[in-house]
Amino acid sequence: MTQIILRVKDAEDIAVVAALAEEIWNQHFIGIISQGQVDYMLGKFQSVGAIEEQIAAGYEYYLVRVDDEPVGYFALVPQVEEDQAMLSKIYVKAQQRGSGLGKAMMEFVEGRCKELGIDRLWLTVNRHNTETIGFYEHLGFSKSGELLQDIGNGYVMDDYKMVKHIKQA
Ligand SMILES: CC(C)(COP(=O)(O)OP(=O)(O)OC[C@H]1O[C@@H](n2cnc3c(N)ncnc32)[C@H](O)[C@@H]1OP(=O)(O)O)[C@@H](O)C(=O)NCCC(=O)NCCS
Repeated sequence: MTQIILRVKDAEDIAVVAALAEEIWNQHFIGIISQGQVDYMLGKFQSVGAIEEQIAAGYEYYLVRVDDEPVGYFALVPQVEEDQAMLSKIYVKAQQRGSGLGKAMMEFVEGRCKELGIDRLWLTVNRHNTETIGFYEHLGFSKSGELLQDIGNGYVMDDYKMVKHIKQA
């Protein structure tokens, strides 16, 4: 099994990420949020156009391939002046979960934070996304508050904020 993590740069990679997002979000979030909200959020945050805009604004998107097949992606937003970075997305296809890919992605993210000299990594996670909260806690994140964000169209994101302090080498 050959696993690689690539920085997303061109239109071809962005289309692969958007297709992965559509598959994973429809598989994972139904039951946590409504189908209407999944469709709305995919359009607003994970369409090809939205990802292009995020990359232009400084988001670092990464694609994970195993034996050349795309199996997951994540996005990091360095906020160097605040000595922090936001982990904006981390997703693995359902069939590949539980075999260490999420942890490898997180190790890569922490390595990138160290490279940038950033001490604090934060993220938001839906308060009902219980399995994933367990994953974050297992990897050393702690809840630091709740965050209710109006995202338009009558929808809200009902999240926990979680934080991990990165030990610099
Ligand atoms: C969250 C996610 C990225 C994790 O990736 P993964 O490949 O399944 O995770 P790994 O197999 O690398 O697990 C890493 C470790 O976390 C542990 N873990 C995973 N889920 C856990 C849980 N609910 N409670 C406690 N530990 C957990 C694993 O046992 C493993 O421990 P180990 O390294 O000590 O053996 C993946 O499951 C996913 O895409 N989930 C759905 C989408 C999602 O919710 N994304 C985040 C949105 S905010």
